[in-house]
Amino acid sequence: MRFGKNAGHIAVVTGASSGIGKAMARGLARRGCFVILSGRNSAALERLSEELGRDRSIVITADLSTTAGCVSLFEQAKAYSPDILINNAGFGIYGRFTETDAEREAALIDLNVRAMQLLFKLFLEEFEKNRRGYILNVGSIAGFMPGPLMSSYYASKAFVVRQTQGVWLEQLVNGSPVKVSVLCPGPVDTNFNSTAGITGFFRGISAEECADAAIKGMEYELPVIIPSVTAKLIVLGASLTPALVAGVFAYAAQKGKKRIEDKD
Ligand SMILES: NC(=O)c1ccc[n+]([C@@H]2O[C@H](COP(=O)([O-])OP(=O)(O)OC[C@H]3O[C@@H](n4cnc5c(N)ncnc54)[C@H](OP(=O)(O)O)[C@@H]3O)[C@@H](O)[C@H]2O)c1
Repeated sequence: MRFGKNAGHIAVVTGASSGIGKAMARGLARRGCFVILSGRNSAALERLSEELGRDRSIVITADLSTTAGCVSLFEQAKAYSPDILINNAGFGIYGRFTETDAEREAALIDLNVRAMQLLFKLFLEEFEKNRRGYILNVGSIAGFMPGPLMSSYYASKAFVVRQTQGVWLEQLVNGSPVKVSVLCPGPVDTNFNSTAGITGFFRGISAEECADAAIKGMEYELPVIIPSVTAKLIVLGASLTPALVAGVFAYAAQKGKKRIEDKD
């Protein structure tokens, strides 16, 4: 994928109101893309659109935890003929599976799995028709191991990783011009932890570092983009270790986190 002032790319970014999505939107806009900013927080999205330039961006608000929200984003975005999707919106839940809220667990699957998969499918079919395009699904290093205390989140990211890898291979054997990648960050300093109700254990990289690595990875059309040396080592370790052993290390990392409500 080539970026550049005259490349004329039009990118849809979900979860653009904060964190990695916001940094991706800024990074793509800097490289000359017109950016379609999506999320639920319209005030934050409008502020970002103002910053990027009203002639260089638009806002489409949508709650992607519903099928109607996903279809509405797709239909509205289609009118702009996008050729890039950054499928980024997602969140985590912290706690023992027996203690977390069932409704919130369902909302996590709706967003991290169902919305990710539906948008992936809708945009990929559209990009195939146009014979061009790039989809970046946002997974996580969590997708490579079991995650005690965040088990649904880790499992949802395993879905993102495996689905993207499967489709990547389909695109390859079919000689498709449409590229797909999965971005697998380790900890990134965003609102992710506060949404999950915890404070971080490891210092994360910045959202800007993460987005820069993601965009470079897209330029090289890497199937799996892991944006830091530490995260690469963790994925390597997890791939060489039996799953349950990797899960013990993940447990140790999660156990070190503090619930915001318990923080003194
Ligand atoms: N931060 C990390 O350590 C880390 C590591 C690996 C992977 N990731 C992944 O990176 C992605 C972005 O997370 P982040 O770290 O940037 O966290 P963040 O700052 O909390 O951003 C999450 C984004 O998702 C959007 N979102 C949440 N619920 C939504 C819904 N129902 N409908 C539409 N949009 C919704 C939010 O927008 P609104 O509130 O405006 O809806 C927000 O823009 C997630 O998929 C996350 O799993 C994060």
